[in-house]
Amino acid sequence: MKADEIRQGFLDFFARHDHRIVPSAPVIPHGDPTLLFTNAGMNQFKDVFLGTGTREYVRAADTQKCIRVSGKHNDLEEVGRDTYHHTFFEMLGNWSFGDYYKKEAIAWAWELLTDVWGLDKSRLYATVFETDAEAAALWKSQTDIDPSHILPFGKKDNFWEMGDTGPCGPCSEIHIDLTPDRTGGTLVNAGDARVMEIWNLVFIQNNRTPSGALEPLPATHVDTGMGFERICAVLQGKNSNYDTDIFTPILSAIANATGRPYGSEAEQVAMRVIADHIRMLSFAIADGAIPGNDGRGYVLRRILRRGARFGRNLGMREPFIYAITDTVADTMGHMFPELLEKREHIKRTIRAEEESFNATLDRGIEIFDSVLERIGHSTVFPGDDAFKLYDTYGFPLDLTQLMAEERGLKVDVGEFTERMEEQRTRAREAGKADATEAASTLVKELNDLPPSTFIGYGATEANAHLNRILEGKYISLDRTPFYVEAGGQVDDIGIIQGEHFTAEVVDSIRLDKRIVHEVRFLKGSPEAVREGTVIARVDAKRRQDIQRNHSATHLVHEALRRVLGTHVHQQGSLVAPDRLRFDFPHFGKITPPEIRAIEDMVNAKIAEDIPVHTEADVPVEKARKVPNVKMFFGDKYGDIVRVVYIDERFSIEFCGGTHVSSTGDIGLFKIISETGIASGVRRIEAVTGEGLRRYLDDQVRRATELDDRIARMLEEQDELERQIRQRGGTAPRLTRPSLGTLSVPQNALAQASVDAIEAGLAARHQAIDELAASATELKKVVSKAAVADAASMLEELVQSAKPVNGIRLVSSRVDAADMDDLKRIGDALRSRLGSGVGLLGTVMDNKAALLCVVTDDLITSAKLHAGKIVGEAAKIVGGGGGGRPHLATAGGKDPSRLDEALHALGDIIKSLKA
Ligand code: ALA
Repeated sequence: MKADEIRQGFLDFFARHDHRIVPSAPVIPHGDPTLLFTNAGMNQFKDVFLGTGTREYVRAADTQKCIRVSGKHNDLEEVGRDTYHHTFFEMLGNWSFGDYYKKEAIAWAWELLTDVWGLDKSRLYATVFETDAEAAALWKSQTDIDPSHILPFGKKDNFWEMGDTGPCGPCSEIHIDLTPDRTGGTLVNAGDARVMEIWNLVFIQNNRTPSGALEPLPATHVDTGMGFERICAVLQGKNSNYDTDIFTPILSAIANATGRPYGSEAEQVAMRVIADHIRMLSFAIADGAIPGNDGRGYVLRRILRRGARFGRNLGMREPFIYAITDTVADTMGHMFPELLEKREHIKRTIRAEEESFNATLDRGIEIFDSVLERIGHSTVFPGDDAFKLYDTYGFPLDLTQLMAEERGLKVDVGEFTERMEEQRTRAREAGKADATEAASTLVKELNDLPPSTFIGYGATEANAHLNRILEGKYISLDRTPFYVEAGGQVDDIGIIQGEHFTAEVVDSIRLDKRIVHEVRFLKGSPEAVREGTVIARVDAKRRQDIQRNHSATHLVHEALRRVLGTHVHQQGSLVAPDRLRFDFPHFGKITPPEIRAIEDMVNAKIAEDIPVHTEADVPVEKARKVPNVKMFFGDKYGDIVRVVYIDERFSIEFCGGTHVSSTGDIGLFKIISETGIASGVRRIEAVTGEGLRRYLDDQVRRATELDDRIARMLEEQDELERQIRQRGGTAPRLTRPSLGTLSVPQNALAQASVDAIEAGLAARHQAIDELAASATELKKVVSKAAVADAASMLEELVQSAKPVNGIRLVSSRVDAADMDDLKRIGDALRSRLGSGVGLLGTVMDNKAALLCVVTDDLITSAKLHAGKIVGEAAKIVGGGGGGRPHLATAGGKDPSRLDEALHALGDIIKSLKA
């Protein structure tokens, strides 16, 4: 089973049990200061468990992108060294919000693992919290697990908590014993790869408060999490998560880039670390994190530097990790489209980090080695030196610790911390900024910025106050018309112009209410940038194209529901200037008539020219009650939302994007592709406005290319007819296609012109099919005539042939269009020979082709073999060949010596007989 099928199997199983399948939340949690990274599937439902939020469903399931490198759940130490811990992994989960409880959770987990997936029951163990007699009893009554495999454990293993505070409760874990002889019972919870936890069922019933107290929750809930990479390894019969199809493409990409095999233990560890870290970095950056000097950014930096250092163990001195992100995007982008959308950003970010670290890595490693020499047999790596590596060469403490551990040393962390403190004090006393913090990162700087107001709903140009420029390229304005990518709608681009500079906006970054625009200077330089008034101007034409596609996305969303069914809902979307893309759950292909119905419905709404009406600042509780409103679960909405109406009876959506003022502005809508991107998930791509024009231009260009092809096919047809007439035959009568010319109208596009172009293309494809079929017909006629001609020519040769050594020999050039014809002529010759040997030659595609036939009597009496004869003859034309005794063919690259080869027949026979 492929990983994709396993993931889908899990989701399908819980969908059958009435769970709402929801998207993964981002790995960067929004609005939860207790977490740096999303560390479990339940994070996005924390408010439901605490009783402060609700959902419109009581059962949910998903696959959640998780990162565990900090805080309560931190697996970094094990990553790469073992084969089943990761910094980034997918957690498959199912939840009950005050609905079902322990009984169903246990029964369904058992059913999926043993019935659906067929795991060997005698390998499974269930742990329960030591005081949870209920769970232990349910395992006995609801499943047929071996009762001796139900094991009680204490708080450390069987009481799950999200973090220092938050929802928690007793849990029951399922472990699998992968030892060959099933003797792993004692290894449960012993940190041994042969017996690992695969699924955790948490019975959420408490909240851990900041004071450390446990308080009961208003209701009881179920929260489960299964390690996707682990279950894939188990179901694919692999001993290591890295041997599954999730990781093998990444490991091959690393092997390719480094030119090293996944061979020795050291190579394997290094490659596993890099394979793991590259996924963590890709996902974290895709969801908005950037490497930096503190907090989340510093975690990314540490992970990347750790990866780069392992790259050095594989002999890599130049940046290479960034390029591996392509493999991550290629293999996981269908599930997590953010990887595709942010592909270039991810690459650029990682590359820049690799470059800056590589510059000091070598020197740092030298320093590290010289410290080892200096300390001799001591087992303590001095904190002083660790600090120097940190301060001067950018070695995070845990990187130095890791390198020290590899040599059996421990870093003196106490001393390291002291040096760090001293430096801070010195800096403070000197009245200077702390040196280690002076190189402040963008993340930190962003946090210090005043907020910016987005004013781009109504305007694409405005005067604004420029607050600051960061790192010479990030400009912050008090108000900005530039839209920052969100809800699928891409960033705006444009110009910011001050008194002494003009800069092009190439990207925008938002952190809550803080926005910066990354610029490239067209005139002036960062030094010319002053606080004060500037003009901010969005590329308005491009924005209008984006708006057409955004409003069309709302329309097509509703049209899909009406044509295909209400199971359709948005799973992913891209709103770009040239096209829109929409992913949604649906089984089976969408048929051409359905596509047409969807297009017609959208185009009817466009023709009605309905004003698009938005309501900003609506309290979320009120907005949720609007009949038929669409909101996307898994998205985090604040308390206040914006609602976009396009005809109250048609489309109402929560949306922060920008739209046309009236649907007529969209012009015309067309779906240009329909594909499946995962089991049960379809993707459509569509165009409007300029995008549609470009699409039609392309279609017309294709039609012109097809016209050329048709012209060439007609010429070939004429030539074949000529050959038939030349041989005195009659060619079958064939019709010639008549096709009008196609063009894209200059004025407004109408459905009729789109249809005409599509029909014109279809007619050309049909004409090509018909021409190909008639060419085949004509070739058959030509070949029949050619074989007949050759046969009658051979007849004469056979009559006049003189025996050599008592054997009748015929050799001749013939006219054959292909090998099949040559064989047909050979057969004709063989049947006319009576007793004898024939050698035929022809030139085909500038190469010599030879064929030899031997009659049956000579095969037996004279021991002649067509394969051997033709092989000898082929040597003369610079080639070879062979075959069976009665008929064999050969080729050679020197057609100029073909006659020589044919004349050699007599000599060849003599030499073979001698
Ligand atoms: N939240 C539980 C875990 O992460 C399922 O293990």
